[in-house]
Amino acid sequence: MKLSKSLFRLYRNTIFMLPAETAHSVSLASAEFLYKSWLKNMFIADRQSMPNKLMGLSFPNKLGLAAGFDKNGDYLNFDNNIGLGFIELGTVTPKAQYGNSKPRIFRSIKDTAIINHLGFNNKGVQHLKNNLQLIERNQPIGINIGKNSSTTIELAHEDYQYCMKEIFSLADYITLNISSPNTSRLRELHSDNYLDTFLHEIKKTHAELTKKYKKRVPLVLKISPDIQDNDLEILCRQMLNYEIDGVIATNTTIDKNLLIDKSYLNNKGGVSGKPLFKKSNILIKNIKNLVKDNIVIVGAGGITSKESAVEKLSLGADLLQLYTGLVYFGLDLIKEITRETK
Ligand SMILES: Cc1cc2nc3c(=O)[nH]c(=O)nc-3n(C[C@H](O)[C@H](O)[C@H](O)COP(=O)(O)O)c2cc1C
Repeated sequence: MKLSKSLFRLYRNTIFMLPAETAHSVSLASAEFLYKSWLKNMFIADRQSMPNKLMGLSFPNKLGLAAGFDKNGDYLNFDNNIGLGFIELGTVTPKAQYGNSKPRIFRSIKDTAIINHLGFNNKGVQHLKNNLQLIERNQPIGINIGKNSSTTIELAHEDYQYCMKEIFSLADYITLNISSPNTSRLRELHSDNYLDTFLHEIKKTHAELTKKYKKRVPLVLKISPDIQDNDLEILCRQMLNYEIDGVIATNTTIDKNLLIDKSYLNNKGGVSGKPLFKKSNILIKNIKNLVKDNIVIVGAGGITSKESAVEKLSLGADLLQLYTGLVYFGLDLIKEITRETK
């Protein structure tokens, strides 16, 4: 085993002794400190002479950081320098909020999975905006937005519009997260009942902002792996109608039966990591059939090896994102994947 892999294992065994949410904050706070001072530019993204041009943006490689890892943009020195092709910050909401009660992140080590019930805990869009203003960019930075838990589903679009206005000038792309299982009723935005009005309102604001800032900011929709086939067809039709630029397939699943470790069966929250891999792949394949090359597909869900990354690309993903794989396998995984999937 390579030295860096053995060291990471040792580090992981130690940090996994802490509760999952504490481990995440402690790891990132210390990594951010190191990257700010000594390690800057250690893992600069494997850049190419011909970067991936998608949605009008240049991606130095196909692998991105999934939303939720750095919700508030507090660890940008770290994110910016670990060899990724793009970074997605958020989910942020208009107002800061605590989220659901703790404990709300669990690891199922047997499954190489995380179960999270966070509920959009974040410091609010203004905090993210302040952090973003300070940073130079090594790759595109997307911003993932959502609604406050106190906002009704009928008025959800107003929260997204508010966030769009705040971050439009700073975002390389904007992701509309309608798929967290941890905010009550949020996933109803997938159904045509709400989706049509929602996208209509979003596109209206998007057009106003494009005109105001004379800047094109691609819109991306992040969807649930638990969507029914029929709803997926309608959703894809609507994404084409409203000229959505990209789709992230997928967020976490509420299907706990996918876990080997049955002790989490009754936990609230969404499952990420290995158990999600096949389920999210089916969606990528179906979306590709429905939208062809008209919408960029970002494949997320259970990437834990270079082989799993290659499989998502072969099913139709144009770009990739990971979260749980990074927690379990560390920065070496980024290197392995980006070498294989330029
Ligand atoms: C602890 C945790 C927090 C997350 N928070 C968010 C979030 O705020 N917004 C979002 O769109 N997705 C969030 N996700 C979902 C990830 O972005 C990703 O879509 C999902 O975990 C599947 O990828 P993975 O299997 O590589 O982790 C979160 C995932 C985890 C594990």
